[in-house]
Amino acid sequence: MILPIVAYGDPVLRKKAVPLTKDYDGLEMLIDSMWETMYESNGVGLAAPQIGKSLNLFVVDAGPMQDADYPEFKKVFINAEIIEEFGEKWEYEEGCLSIPHIRDNVKRYSDIAIRYWDEHFVEHEEEFHGMPARVIQHEYDHIKGVLFVDHLSELRKRLLKNKLITISKGGVEVDYKMRFPSTR
Ligand code: NI
Repeated sequence: MILPIVAYGDPVLRKKAVPLTKDYDGLEMLIDSMWETMYESNGVGLAAPQIGKSLNLFVVDAGPMQDADYPEFKKVFINAEIIEEFGEKWEYEEGCLSIPHIRDNVKRYSDIAIRYWDEHFVEHEEEFHGMPARVIQHEYDHIKGVLFVDHLSELRKRLLKNKLITISKGGVEVDYKMRFPSTR
């Protein structure tokens, strides 16, 4: 089921998401809906708060970003916990389905070590680098109530302020379904 994506300004995007239990009702369906919603909006990642659910769950398919080291990268992350960020910091222009039409450079560490459970509730501890690591860090931020614009300089934030207010009021054209805080 394609779900509306929650727009900037909705308090759910600022909440710390809660862990999921194995017996969470409808988990499989929820994950299916997240994939469907993400592909429909041409995203490479989607976190549960973005569909209005404050749960520690996100999905990533960084395959379309064509990182030579990861020709395919499709994963479900449940109760993820970044253990370590390391390597070099590098800058890349990010966007977010909850913040349409705004893109800006964000500096992140190149490598991460992360513990998470997959859709079958199997525990993993893995290291990622490059683009997949970046997408994971971006989605992981959502779980913590952090958005990519929070990483920008004070000056950039000030320059974006009005655009962000406009988004929260629903004053943007998007070709996917969204839910705006003021029109709930
Ligand atoms: Ni995002």
